Amino acid sequence: MKDITAYMAQHKQRFLEELIELLKIPSVSADPAFSQDVYNTAEAIKGALEKAGCEAVEICETAGYPIIYAEKILDPSLPTVLVYGHYDVQPADPIDLWTSPPFEPVIKKTELHPEGAIFARGACDDKGQMYMHVKAVEFMIATGQLPCNVKFMIEGEEEVGSKSLADFVAQNQAKLANDIILISDTGMIANDVPSITTGLRGLSYVEVEVTGPNRDLHSGLYGGAVANPINVLTKMIASLHDENNHITIPGFYEKVEELSAEERAEMAKAPFSLEDYQNALKIDSVYGEKGYLTNERNAIRPTLDVNGIWGGYTGEGAKTVIASKAYAKISMRLVPHQDWEEITQLFKTHFESIAPKGVSVKVTPHHGGQGYVTPINTIGYQAASKAYETTFGKKPIPQRSGGSIPIVALFEKELKSKTILMGFGLDSDAIHSPNEHFGVWNYLKGIETIPYFYQYFKEMSS
Ligand code: BES
Ligand code: MN
Ligand code: MN
Repeated sequence: MKDITAYMAQHKQRFLEELIELLKIPSVSADPAFSQDVYNTAEAIKGALEKAGCEAVEICETAGYPIIYAEKILDPSLPTVLVYGHYDVQPADPIDLWTSPPFEPVIKKTELHPEGAIFARGACDDKGQMYMHVKAVEFMIATGQLPCNVKFMIEGEEEVGSKSLADFVAQNQAKLANDIILISDTGMIANDVPSITTGLRGLSYVEVEVTGPNRDLHSGLYGGAVANPINVLTKMIASLHDENNHITIPGFYEKVEELSAEERAEMAKAPFSLEDYQNALKIDSVYGEKGYLTNERNAIRPTLDVNGIWGGYTGEGAKTVIASKAYAKISMRLVPHQDWEEITQLFKTHFESIAPKGVSVKVTPHHGGQGYVTPINTIGYQAASKAYETTFGKKPIPQRSGGSIPIVALFEKELKSKTILMGFGLDSDAIHSPNEHFGVWNYLKGIETIPYFYQYFKEMSS
């Protein structure tokens, strides 16, 4: 890629300013109060893709938030890269824990980002990482070096389950036809330990409701004589793990892919310091399924976690009350071969079956999706690996991630193509948390690395 260094040096200030403008729009897809901002962000992305030199830029309306499509087709005989990303972000709360307002981006230095990081909701997940692709394509078009056809598909509902995208993909297979899908919406091990994500976990997300008496009761008059839904719910939840932290739902592990000793030994080679991990989270010990390392627990093993639990009186002071209802939101992270709809059903059947007399239980499935693993002996992976080697001076490590991008499995099913996950964020970038940030170095390194992927992918395809 001729002139990339010069181009980066000349335009990096503008690259940062453009991203900062985009981060100012609070495109929170989960909260209808931000609906107009989500639409405004879609408009901003459209403008950015046009400015980068893309053609046929289109805001595709859906039943939910729009999907932005754009392309630059040079020659139908060349390989085609489909870039996917999302312009919606997670809610910013709890707002008081931010050291600067979530939608007023600022650059601050951190221990892991001595050159500064942009602090804003969406900086890393996924506006910053998505925008690297827009800038990389701008560079290749501007310097007349785009080696492949490129298509963009940027959605606004990833953080709420990509409902409209599933239909859009199913209905637009010809338009979206490609040779490889490229996504930057994951992370890497460290700035001096580049890695490529080769796996994502699946997800089943459910909400449970336990109902006892028909109204809230005086805890003195009725306590001990009727089932307390909160007591019952916590007991039921506690029973979902055994003393070894295995999940007790019958059939839950039936289809779990067991890794060979060789594969686990390979995984263990990735640099990992338990001490640093514990220190970063201010915990005195890790916790999890017996028989597995931390790196395995959060990547190759399925899990079950309560994400929220509520009911009864939580206001100031004390109120003596037995609530009529108790609730929890529960996520299960799944591994290859576990089917999310099957797991949701297993959960529902089991959870209903363990309810004691005196309460009724309702399980409502939210969203979910299948996990994904990609082999490393494909030209897509090899091209990405060589691209990192070129700009980082080191061969990247393949690594499975614990996070989920459910739409990736669907891409493979509907579009019959593999996805390459070139993530440039760090786990410590606090995505979904207060003070989310994205390293300036990481952002620029991403823009610099992506064009080499196109170059090598084209070379290896012919
Ligand atoms: N970009 C993340 C997923 C991710 C982050 C994967 C880091 C690997 C490493 C994505 O935006 C996300 O948050 N996904 C959700 C699932 C979705 C259905 C709401 C998740 O993983 O919780
Ligand atoms: Mn994301
Ligand atoms: Mn996310």
